[in-house]
Amino acid sequence: MAEEKIIYVDELAGSDETGTGVESSPVKTALKAVELGGESVKILIKKDEEGFKDISGAALKKAKKAYTELQRKLKKQEEQKKKAEEEDAKKAEEEAKALEKAKSIVLTEDESLPAAQKIKVRQSTESRGKRVKVSGWVHRLRVQGKDMMFVVLRDGSGYLQCVFTGKLCHTFDAITLTVESTITVHGVINELPEGKTAPGGHELVVDYWYVVGKAPGGDDAFNNKVTTDADPSYLLDNRHLVLRGETASAVMKARAEVIKAFRAHYDDRGYTEVTPPCMVQTQVEGGSTLFEFNYYGEKAYLTQSSQLYLETCLPSLGDVFCLAESYRAEKSHTRRHLSEYSHLEAEMAFLTFDEMLDALEDLVCDVIDRIMANEPTRQLIEQLNPGFKPPARPFLRMKYADAIQYLKDNDIKKEDGTFYEFGEDIPEAPERAMTDKINRPILLTHFPAHIKAFYMQKCPEDPRITESVDVLMPGVGEIVGGSMRMNNREELLEAYEKEGIDPSPYYWYTDQRKYGTTPHGGYGLGVERFLAWLLNRYTVRDCQLYPRFTGRCTP
Ligand code: 4AD
Repeated sequence: MAEEKIIYVDELAGSDETGTGVESSPVKTALKAVELGGESVKILIKKDEEGFKDISGAALKKAKKAYTELQRKLKKQEEQKKKAEEEDAKKAEEEAKALEKAKSIVLTEDESLPAAQKIKVRQSTESRGKRVKVSGWVHRLRVQGKDMMFVVLRDGSGYLQCVFTGKLCHTFDAITLTVESTITVHGVINELPEGKTAPGGHELVVDYWYVVGKAPGGDDAFNNKVTTDADPSYLLDNRHLVLRGETASAVMKARAEVIKAFRAHYDDRGYTEVTPPCMVQTQVEGGSTLFEFNYYGEKAYLTQSSQLYLETCLPSLGDVFCLAESYRAEKSHTRRHLSEYSHLEAEMAFLTFDEMLDALEDLVCDVIDRIMANEPTRQLIEQLNPGFKPPARPFLRMKYADAIQYLKDNDIKKEDGTFYEFGEDIPEAPERAMTDKINRPILLTHFPAHIKAFYMQKCPEDPRITESVDVLMPGVGEIVGGSMRMNNREELLEAYEKEGIDPSPYYWYTDQRKYGTTPHGGYGLGVERFLAWLLNRYTVRDCQLYPRFTGRCTP
């Protein structure tokens, strides 16, 4: 018979974790005591202040039974764990074997089929029924059992569903295929039967394919890197990958179409496109936002606006426009400010201020009409900004003085609780509050001279006010700034002086007023702001390929 072992249980102060079972170090439960003492355990138990006593027969029996039950459960768990491990190992071995076997499966193109003709995805509809060859990136991947696989292929010109069956799904490359890998597929594009959907209403039935470049799986896989809930600054660091997404690429496509429409508009209205320099030695919109750099030992700047150069083109080319990058060392960190932006600027000669406002309205409306008349582009707009409706003509024309009154009438105040008064700049927040409330495009005109740039023409009826305009759009605010330009040389010289600008580097600009002056005017449109409005993007940053703003100049 096994030697009887005494175990002390103290239900009040004992511990199953640290107790050893001796009187000075009791355990807490009878179950633990059975575990320590075995079948022939003698348990002395303390339930209250009265000290250790023999455990009752019933309680001992209960503890022993519970212990046996626990042992049985643990054993079962152990067995299950072992079985699962064995199964996992077997599965891994099978997979390894299958992969090894897959390596030996080599696809060959069936020579008896008609030669595959190379196409881009955009040519899919016209290529239906013919055997084609398409290359692209695996945009989406769905494996259905061992013998079927669906890939949505993306080549930048569109999306094409490709279906792989049988042996085509059994190769090593098929089994290990990942999203964003590049592949080439051969096969026939068929219209989808009623009830099935895929981009373009068709799918390519693959008969031969190969990998061009494999993308990583696991932690480094594309879908693990680019997620919609990721931190915005992380997404900007990975902009090169984000651009592959359906939304970002749609914005870039729409951007290209919008730029095309702007050019078509100007071409139609008889403007000539020019390409002014980006490296300059003059300022246009105030010294505080100039990016300065060392130009062979001389001070130079990245251009803030090509306006001054456009003005010089009027006598030789007539009405002109340009689409160039402008640079602003903006201190403001807002959702509509970039350090580098695409600036669409136009300049026109021999016209009145009202004619310039008409030209601006014509630009916005005609460009929207052109965009909406192009079905694929209209679909892009619908995808990004569902329910978009072109703005109605005429735009609301509102004087700055009336805007000040509007802010008062609508209780839109400064942060300190006071109202904006005539002569004060209307900042972004109240401007947007007003524009969103009015909810239609506004041509806001006649700003006071001292809050605007030095070159703006004063109103003949009141020299405190300029012939100036901002176009305001709901959701974004200002998208265009423009004005008539001072066309009197003496007045311009005075304006330089008032602004503290040395006139000498501006001799070529001043000369426009010397060699045949004329009333003229123009404007600059921020392309990213126009897009943010049209495509309903929260920030202009989403409308630029690789946005540049305070603290970001990469990638
Ligand atoms: O109002 P702005 O400063 O006007 C000019 O530069 C004139 N010289 C243009 C001209 O008359 N030719 O800028 C014109 C437009 C703004 O309405 C805005 O849409 C955009 O350029 N813009 C910016 N866009 C993004 N980020 C910035 N930091 C911008 N600053 C101006």
